[in-house]
Amino acid sequence: MLSRLLPRPVTTEERPGVFVLGPATTLGSDPASAGVTRLLRETLTRSTGLALPDPCPGGGAHNGGGAAAGAGSIALAVDPALPAGGYHLRVRPDGVAVTGGDPAGVHHGTQSLLQLLPPAVYRRSRVAAGPWRLPGVEISDAPRFGWRGCLLDVARHFIPVAGVLRFVDLLAAHKLNVLHLHLTDDQGWRLQVRRYPRLTEVGAWRPESMVGARQHERFDGRPHGGYYTQDDIREIVGYAAERFVTVVPEIDLPGHTQAAIAAYPELGNDPGEPVAVSTRWGISSRVLNVSDETLDFARHVLDEVVELFPSRHVGIGGDECDKGEWRASPAAQRRRQELGLRDEDELQSWFVRQLQRHLAGRGRALFGWDEILEGGLPAGATVAAWRGPAPAVAAARAGHDVVSCWDSSAYLDYRQSDSPDEPIPVGTVLTVADVRNFEPVPAELPVALRHRVVGAQCNLWTEHADNPRAVDYLAFPRLAAFAEAVWSPPGPEHRDGFEERLAAHLRRLDALGVEYRPPAGPLPWQRRPDAAGWPRQRADRDAELARLTGNVLRPRTPEPRSTRDTGPQGAGHRAAQPDS
Ligand code: ACM
Repeated sequence: MLSRLLPRPVTTEERPGVFVLGPATTLGSDPASAGVTRLLRETLTRSTGLALPDPCPGGGAHNGGGAAAGAGSIALAVDPALPAGGYHLRVRPDGVAVTGGDPAGVHHGTQSLLQLLPPAVYRRSRVAAGPWRLPGVEISDAPRFGWRGCLLDVARHFIPVAGVLRFVDLLAAHKLNVLHLHLTDDQGWRLQVRRYPRLTEVGAWRPESMVGARQHERFDGRPHGGYYTQDDIREIVGYAAERFVTVVPEIDLPGHTQAAIAAYPELGNDPGEPVAVSTRWGISSRVLNVSDETLDFARHVLDEVVELFPSRHVGIGGDECDKGEWRASPAAQRRRQELGLRDEDELQSWFVRQLQRHLAGRGRALFGWDEILEGGLPAGATVAAWRGPAPAVAAARAGHDVVSCWDSSAYLDYRQSDSPDEPIPVGTVLTVADVRNFEPVPAELPVALRHRVVGAQCNLWTEHADNPRAVDYLAFPRLAAFAEAVWSPPGPEHRDGFEERLAAHLRRLDALGVEYRPPAGPLPWQRRPDAAGWPRQRADRDAELARLTGNVLRPRTPEPRSTRDTGPQGAGHRAAQPDS
């Protein structure tokens, strides 16, 4: 049982005896851990039927104030001497103590405690009679990275609030702590914005969707839509916070904006031409124009985002902005020339810098895909390196924090094997083992810059996941493998026994009602013979990435800016230097 915790703790030492939960067991905590205690009691009570009363009802201080557990008690407490997010879990026959460096650490300790119990502990009502035994143990544990995330694309296919809350529960059960919500894209705008109601009136639905990979040009003829009201978002953010998951919002700008342009054509480069929410997968050529009014639109939207999401990081996307419209637009070219910018990459960089400055004025940090490095970006952003390790290295050298998530290691929409039975197989093969072996710190990053890698995330794009069962199939069990890759220390010795841990973990996923991909491959009803994919080979993708990331790696010498681009941060234009 002890060898079966996932993610694997830093150290686990068996101790004699067991603790058995029973009618006399109490569950108490210090005030700082009260929220974690409430959630633990809820989980344990519904599956075991035990009341687990508080030994000090009325909110009195937890006896011992630290790790001391009274006989027959489970005691939760914060001990600031432990690392942030870290915890110590001690199970003895007379009691269980969970201490964490902070409430998040206590929460992580309770997740390990649950994993020590039979999987039925995850059921929402009582299906097993027990006994609910915890083996004697001392665990000392702490996360390797502070950013342990997952992107959920709710733009391509909308995921209702209940599905997002369930996903948060699953992240928390895996000790993951960032939910990157991709809220807007060409195919849908999913966030209510009070100032711009048409974003959801028009932008939140499309008349049909593609079936399978876009190369096959097939459509389903079925409307798709949905969006989150601002109260929905408050609920998601609050629910996630109770589980120590930060929701990082992303409004993708200035590309991936066809749904916004459909709602407000004046945001586009050719207001005369009608634009609809995209029904096609792939990158739209429709992008925002670079007028003052459009920048104001972006700022106003971000103001409502900042109001709703307390996250320090606010995502502005920045990926895959097709610059063709800017090259053809006299207005965009005028603006580029006025600003003294050499090319459209620098024009995007200028656009992104305005948003960076706006967010900084509200105490927030800009978070974007690695394309935001193209054309230069002042230090201080957080860059999601998705096009391989090279942009991660370039970002760190340019003074940015890095969240590693390159597609070949962390894209959960990519096919899980090379079998033709994989449902809608796209991308390169990414097996569970590949995800477990993901190393977020590139070997080529100088030691002095390694602290810049603040963590990693896996990304779940949903073009080909049009319902929760398909999301489960793509996410699990790879998300569990990812959780271990970002939690446990590096090195092969910490990967030892992963397959056994995973086999045990699948029983927990069963109890949680997760429809994961079985190790032997998809079940008949998980296949999609009706929808063809577009598998890719690794060598082809690597060659494409080398071509695509050229602009990130190309040194740029700063040039004098126009006065329109000066300000608290704008003057500090700094390029990604490959070798400085
Ligand atoms: C991305 O996959 N376009 C970030």
